[in-house]
Amino acid sequence: MTNAPRSAADDAPLRLLPKVELHCHVEGTARAATVAELAAKHGVPLGVDDPDDLYTYESLADFLAAFATVCSAFVEAEDFHRLAYEAAEDAAAAGTRYREMFFSPGFHLDRGIRFDTMWSGIVAGIADGEADHGVRTRLIMDIDKPKGIGPAMALLEVARVADRDILLGIGGDSTERGVDHHMFEPLISEAKKMGLKTCFHCGEDGPAENIAIMVEAGVDRIDHGTRLLDLPDLVKRVVDEQIPLTSCPSSNVELNIVESLEAHPFAKQLDAGALVTLNSDDPTFFRFDLADEYERVASAFDFDEATMLKIRDNAIDAAWLDDSDKAALRAELGA
Ligand code: ADE
Ligand code: ZN
Repeated sequence: MTNAPRSAADDAPLRLLPKVELHCHVEGTARAATVAELAAKHGVPLGVDDPDDLYTYESLADFLAAFATVCSAFVEAEDFHRLAYEAAEDAAAAGTRYREMFFSPGFHLDRGIRFDTMWSGIVAGIADGEADHGVRTRLIMDIDKPKGIGPAMALLEVARVADRDILLGIGGDSTERGVDHHMFEPLISEAKKMGLKTCFHCGEDGPAENIAIMVEAGVDRIDHGTRLLDLPDLVKRVVDEQIPLTSCPSSNVELNIVESLEAHPFAKQLDAGALVTLNSDDPTFFRFDLADEYERVASAFDFDEATMLKIRDNAIDAAWLDDSDKAALRAELGA
């Protein structure tokens, strides 16, 4: 990762701990140097002299604008290959061994990039990344919520041709503001009919009611779920049904969703019995990786080693693998 030095040392126990990550966007792993090089190759203006300056924002809205600019550097299949390959290289340095990773076609189709261009590049990049760096990656296709249900259903159609050993599910990201989450109920039910798993970003910059809507719609995981504790009946359901939350506490601090890590509800959600997991979301944008995230959360909440292991194991439980694959992963990652 070139955007910033890692804070958790190379030999820090939480860096060395083999980890599983369920909430990371491939475009959010793009290195500044790679973006600059590819933008120059394609003559795409980035609007900054120093590519590091792209990664600045004060809110989710600013962040999404920066995310779109970073996406604009990726044009050919080999660019997407490099993106996914470098994501695996950086994940290996964070101790990540298995990852279910988002990609966001909406940001690329808008620029005239074909689905097959990004898909073939990313699939080849994760295969080479696994061969060279030992990080197994599977994919989740994110729909861009503000575009509405029409483009979301159209993307689902495109996904019918994707290799289902690699594409495990679909998600929905971007802002919750001004988005009526009820509209995605048919998307979730159609995806389920296709045998895809489902998850949705919600309760991040929107209320806990959005989590309730998506739980009712039948999603398999909640991405973020930061506002969950605002609705006690919903907490009970999420805990009783062990619906996983893919939490990203440092991302929430960076995007001014919560004031500080100490003020983040992660520890209270864990105490309440929720199946919470720890994730980096967009590591190069936030200038940290998953190992740093484990270190920061352990230190903010004074979690001991057993608690950090439990959090890591929650991610194995929440992964979209069948029971025998989970058992194999558990045995492989050990304690
Ligand atoms: N896309 C990438 N990161 C995101 C986040 N934190 N929230 C919503 N959409 C995103
Ligand atoms: Zn996210």
